Amino acid sequence: MTVAVVGGGQLARMMSQQAIALGVRLRALVEAPDAATAQVVPDVVVGAAKDEAAVREVCRGADVLTVEHEHVDDAQLTRIIGDGIAVRPGPHALRYAQDKIAMRVRLTELGVECPRWAQVRTAAELAAFGAEVGWPVVVKTPRGGYDGKGVRFAHSPDDVADWLADLERGVVTVEGLGGEGGHELLVEERVPFTRELAVLVARRPGDYHAEIRAWPVVETVQAGGICSEVIAPAPGLPPEAARHAQEMAATVARGLDVTGVLAVEMFAVEDESGVRLSVNELAMRPHNSGHWTIEGSVTSQFEQHLRAVLDLPLGDTSARQPYAVMVNLLGSELSDPLDAYPRLMAAFPDVKVHFYGKAVRPGRKLGHVTALGEDPATLRARANAAVAILRGDEEERG
Ligand SMILES: Nc1ncnc2c1ncn2[C@@H]1O[C@H](COP(=O)(O)OP(=O)(O)O)[C@@H](O)[C@H]1O
Ligand SMILES: [Mg+2]
Repeated sequence: MTVAVVGGGQLARMMSQQAIALGVRLRALVEAPDAATAQVVPDVVVGAAKDEAAVREVCRGADVLTVEHEHVDDAQLTRIIGDGIAVRPGPHALRYAQDKIAMRVRLTELGVECPRWAQVRTAAELAAFGAEVGWPVVVKTPRGGYDGKGVRFAHSPDDVADWLADLERGVVTVEGLGGEGGHELLVEERVPFTRELAVLVARRPGDYHAEIRAWPVVETVQAGGICSEVIAPAPGLPPEAARHAQEMAATVARGLDVTGVLAVEMFAVEDESGVRLSVNELAMRPHNSGHWTIEGSVTSQFEQHLRAVLDLPLGDTSARQPYAVMVNLLGSELSDPLDAYPRLMAAFPDVKVHFYGKAVRPGRKLGHVTALGEDPATLRARANAAVAILRGDEEERG
């Protein structure tokens, strides 16, 4: 069995670990010969996701094509399906992870709870929405965004004057986006969430009733729009709210016909009257909120994604320990964080370290650590202290 994957970052790299265990061949289309995945997978094609010839090349002899990011062209994927290659998730599903306006339209049709939203092209339309729901509002480029790039909290249309000016010229372009930002803007009410949750499910191909499995609902903590920490399961979330969150994710997976792993990011507004949930965004691939599953679940998201896209029966998603905490290494003061391994491993022999083989840059996702155990507060402290060593934080050094 051979799985081809578009993208050579840490997600395809971690997928390859599970491919090795399963005896599945992984072929990757990587951006550069030294990409995170290219360092560990021998069978790579170097090229851009937009390069159709390169995508065809990576598919040659593969049973299925999958992706580790959404920045791929649907028309191109549709042509590849026409050549007889299975593409999972299919472009008809992937479009809702590529375009946040298309996603809002479809989720609203499916009756899935979302923040109040509108699609705007002008300062006047944005001002009208702000007047209706109250400022600040959250303005998003529908396409190309990730890690908080393409998301802005606006107190008036002036705060996105540059994006509105771009729109007048046709298309929003933002530094660092994974491609163009789109021909409209999505605007949402600012949800006064008490915390952010994520639900991961995996679904096999098939009809509406195809096999689907959910992992425990997790709490995600973002810093500057980037996921920094994940606690599994979300501490203190009432079981009926967790079940509702899993049902929402399953409704999305079935309604959009997603195959493979689907991550549904949610906002939770919690008070005495209960928990109100709404969907933030979708990712159709293994996701940062599921890295804890590598050690923390009977079946990791990477194994499950491979099983799902190969149309194999899905694995058990139960947790192995009461709690797992994952903390990302986002940038480092050290020129090589691996120099800190002896200190980290001596201080925290129970903590599991994952390093993606990427050069250090400020704020870049370089790796993560996971701690498993009984008490989430203790695990958070240990995992954060372990990451502080990899970051070379001053106080940790002395
Ligand atoms: N409507 C909203 N209300 C409040 N916070 C929001 C809203 N939309 C986004 N955010 C905050 O911004 C973060 C990034 O937004 P998101 O749409 O998930 O973009 P990205 O594609 O960069 O992950 C979210 O995790 C959340 O913290
Ligand atoms: Mg997000």
